[in-house]
Amino acid sequence: MVEKGEKILISGGQIVDPSQGINCVGDLLIEKGKIKSLALEPEKIEKTEEDITKVINAKGMLVFPGLVDMHVHLREPGYEYKETIKTGTMAAVRGGFTSVCCMPNTKPVNDNETVTEFILRKAFAEGACYVFPIGAITKGQKGEELSEMGMMYEAGCVAFSDDGHPVMNSLVMRRALEYTKAFDVPIITHAEDINLSANGVMNEGIVSHELGLRGIPAEAEVIMIKRDIELARLTGGRLHIAHVSTRGGVKAIREAKNSGLRVTAETCPHYFTLTDDAARGYNTAAKVNPPLRTVEDLEAIKEALSDGTIDVIATDHAPHHIDEKNCEFDRAAFGISGLETALSLSLNLVKEGVLSIDELVEKMSLNPSRILGLDKGTLKVGADADITVVDPEAQWKVEPDEFYSKGKNTPFKGFVLKGLTRVVICKGRIYDFTERQDTEQHRLILL
Ligand code: DOR
Repeated sequence: MVEKGEKILISGGQIVDPSQGINCVGDLLIEKGKIKSLALEPEKIEKTEEDITKVINAKGMLVFPGLVDMHVHLREPGYEYKETIKTGTMAAVRGGFTSVCCMPNTKPVNDNETVTEFILRKAFAEGACYVFPIGAITKGQKGEELSEMGMMYEAGCVAFSDDGHPVMNSLVMRRALEYTKAFDVPIITHAEDINLSANGVMNEGIVSHELGLRGIPAEAEVIMIKRDIELARLTGGRLHIAHVSTRGGVKAIREAKNSGLRVTAETCPHYFTLTDDAARGYNTAAKVNPPLRTVEDLEAIKEALSDGTIDVIATDHAPHHIDEKNCEFDRAAFGISGLETALSLSLNLVKEGVLSIDELVEKMSLNPSRILGLDKGTLKVGADADITVVDPEAQWKVEPDEFYSKGKNTPFKGFVLKGLTRVVICKGRIYDFTERQDTEQHRLILL
């Protein structure tokens, strides 16, 4: 146990911090929950320096600014049987995240400052990492009437989204983009034309035909991305496009960026790892919205990550109860529990040469922080000591029963992945997973 206020040294790790252009072996010194100093080879911080109470030997490890996930569902309030702020943030930390932004599709919906304040209070008291709420664009996420965005912004919302549902009314979306210009926060669009997706349950294509399941055409996403881009052009508002899954969507975003619009975009690990083939056998673990697409889409997503069209890798962590997945494909809930597999799956992109390790950290830490105006994503001296130490060589098998998340719904069950979070420093605590025995026995040390 380390007493509050003492000094922690992370020694000899490969420090990757795109905010300072650093990718170099070095030492990091932390004091009182802040980054105190950084020494890059050949410089060193002496381990003998007075009052260093804990030394984390990071030789052979990657040391990142804590990862930031700008798209998670923590389910609290209202759906605590799926996830809570406590379990969701613990899953986040296990996955290497030190900040998460939670979507408003709770019960009640986070469409007013009382709910925002509840989430922040709960997160302060019980959250293993930092939580930044995203408020609803419309009351009850019904797509009709704008919510109290000003009040929610004052209360701490960092963006607005009706995620889980599109805002079908173009005038409402226009007003949302106009209104939020005053606070310079993004509108995050769940791009889906629900008339076209028409209660589909998976990607429309050969696999859906073979399985006899109702399909969601790629166009349901592409059309709405294009509409929202045009509304961003009309209003000058800031638009962020959630969970991009299609080649057509990528093309539209690339063109919008080239024409100078303030548009940003994210994708999720399942869209660059799996295709609609994963739904074969009526595998409900692979049911997600937007749906898993085709190889052509997957390749386009990778290209867009590589050329910067897609700025962010987020998880869209969507935990569900086992009963909501253990049923017919048609009736199963959409969503993947993603926090604990995202980093390892994303490290595959580095192995494949799609991204450099610096670009990966940009997309999982710096870029989401910048898009949302968070004081995160950096190891600069004076910044909060949010740090993720990763063993890039550790191999592990995905066993959902071992997830910290209540949501065991993953299509990656049984996958052998490479790269594992070993230590996370966040909120003045050290989470040490090096000797993890079971879900409760992580070692938690207060700084
Ligand atoms: O698959 C999904 N699940 N997509 C969404 O947009 C919402 C999410 C959820 O809340 O379960």
